[in-house]
Amino acid sequence: GVQAAEAPTAQLAGPAPVRVRAHASHKGLNGDVAVIGGAPGMAGAAVLAATSALCGGAGRVFLAPLDTGFGAAVPGWPELMVRAWDALPLESISVACGCGGGDAVAAMLPAVLSRAKWLVLDADALNAIAADASLQETLRRRGRPTVLTPHPLEAARLLGTSTAQVQGDRLRAAQELGERSKAVVVLKGSGTVIAAPGTTPSINPTGNGRLATGGTGDVLAGLVAAALPVSSDALQAAAHAVYRHGKAADDWPAGEPLTAGALARRLHLD
Ligand code: APR
Ligand code: MG
Repeated sequence: GVQAAEAPTAQLAGPAPVRVRAHASHKGLNGDVAVIGGAPGMAGAAVLAATSALCGGAGRVFLAPLDTGFGAAVPGWPELMVRAWDALPLESISVACGCGGGDAVAAMLPAVLSRAKWLVLDADALNAIAADASLQETLRRRGRPTVLTPHPLEAARLLGTSTAQVQGDRLRAAQELGERSKAVVVLKGSGTVIAAPGTTPSINPTGNGRLATGGTGDVLAGLVAAALPVSSDALQAAAHAVYRHGKAADDWPAGEPLTAGALARRLHLD
């Protein structure tokens, strides 16, 4: 069973940096991130995740759109490199998959699950896994750092239960999903729960209702993906990213609208 939540430790909750950049740092040391997502009509989700990874400190960020909406570049974001997903060196980078993925994401999940060095699974990637027992088995056997970022409905689909059941015991739901998938789980919503197999789940202390606007979940996925390569531990990387995401909302300037794009630009991992 799930134990009572402990207060988040200073390491989880505090503003300690996940890494300090050396003066002689170069982009190759700060982690490469690829975002796979952005089906027709949902290109913005992938752009939000990619720009969040960039603002979160990633060394280089690739965007692999699942439609043909972008040409060689994303308007307004010359830093992002647009590539076909199967042309990326997934074995050596951190991949955020599913942000605005649509149905197309299911076809590439077997390859992404087996190849990606670090992996964040969100939204339609989670829905595809929930619908396919063999993908669930592939996820369980992955054996590399993996973070699932479901909102309560996505968690309910993965657990084969209802949103009400998930919300009725969020700690248990996150813990159960972590044990089943052998992954770190970030169960989003007010009081985001962070769980991992064999550990006591924790509740993130930051964030507020201003985050309840479309795209903030995609921003979180990108930030987690940026945190993974520069942290020795996926649980700590996820907890840190969730903390920063919520803290940015808590520190939001009065009178300024919180939109997902503005949130991404305000983020930093250290
Ligand atoms: N308090 C604290 N944090 C909150 C609150 C709240 N009241 N409401 C939302 N958040 C945070 C969540 O914890 C999460 O980090 O905002 C983020 C919202 O993420 P999602 O629920 O994934 O929403 P998002 O993906 O941005 O947009 C909605 O999700 O279900 C899909 O298809 C749907 O496109 C839609 C998308
Ligand atoms: Mg979402």
